[in-house]
Amino acid sequence: MPVRRKIIAGNWKMNKTATESQILVADLLEKLNKFDGAEVVICPPFTSLVSCQQALGKHTEIDLGAQNMHQETSGAYTGEISAAMLKDLFVRFVILGHSERRQYFGETDEIVNQKAHTAIKARLRPILCVGETLSEREAGKMAQVVTKQVQASCAGFTEDDWSVSVIAYEPVWAIGTGKTATPEQAQEVHALIRATVEKMAGKAISDKLRIQYGGSVKPDNARLLLNQPDIDGALVGGASLDAESFVAIIKNACQKEEIS
Ligand code: PGA
Repeated sequence: MPVRRKIIAGNWKMNKTATESQILVADLLEKLNKFDGAEVVICPPFTSLVSCQQALGKHTEIDLGAQNMHQETSGAYTGEISAAMLKDLFVRFVILGHSERRQYFGETDEIVNQKAHTAIKARLRPILCVGETLSEREAGKMAQVVTKQVQASCAGFTEDDWSVSVIAYEPVWAIGTGKTATPEQAQEVHALIRATVEKMAGKAISDKLRIQYGGSVKPDNARLLLNQPDIDGALVGGASLDAESFVAIIKNACQKEEIS
């Protein structure tokens, strides 16, 4: 069984000006204090990418990610941002298909899939988000919805494509609501996602794929969630806007569960 390095990403959403972002990065670097137990990624708004990059300087303990990009490589798409534009700013990761993009901006699995292929061609690593709504879960459709999202969002992936990709399971009912999936509920879906990828691409690839959990991850629930066998990281929204809580999540996530 390959060891999957934990990956904790902060999704700042539409928060922090460029100046505020620089202050948060400085604070994160100080509190992380060269911690290298996990891969750490911050995804500020586009307008903060440069100031975050400047604040990171030569530090390698935090990587830069973006929250979205357009599926086309360039052209007449007013207000949009391309993969090459991100790459040029030293961005390494890009969140794709976040439920807020799906819900408010009409992103479908097909668009997410196009974005993923465009991102990978530009040497960006996609963090592909999937997750069911509360009504889908209550209707007993969780497995069907999540399986289809994974299959469609990752359609046509080669072995190399899988090797640079991360999947984030974010139950929509747990995002920004304070309601977290229990570690058992999350583990069940993570195992389902890994089994889906195994069917699509084989066991060697599914064993290596990192699957993050997202949805009200906080310092006090991170350790139990991330001790589940198929949970390899976290995508953190609200709690990533505060250096103390984000660093506490990162450090707690890397602690092994005590066996009593
Ligand atoms: P939350 O957001 O941690 O604020 O619930 C998670 C996300 O949307 O990625």
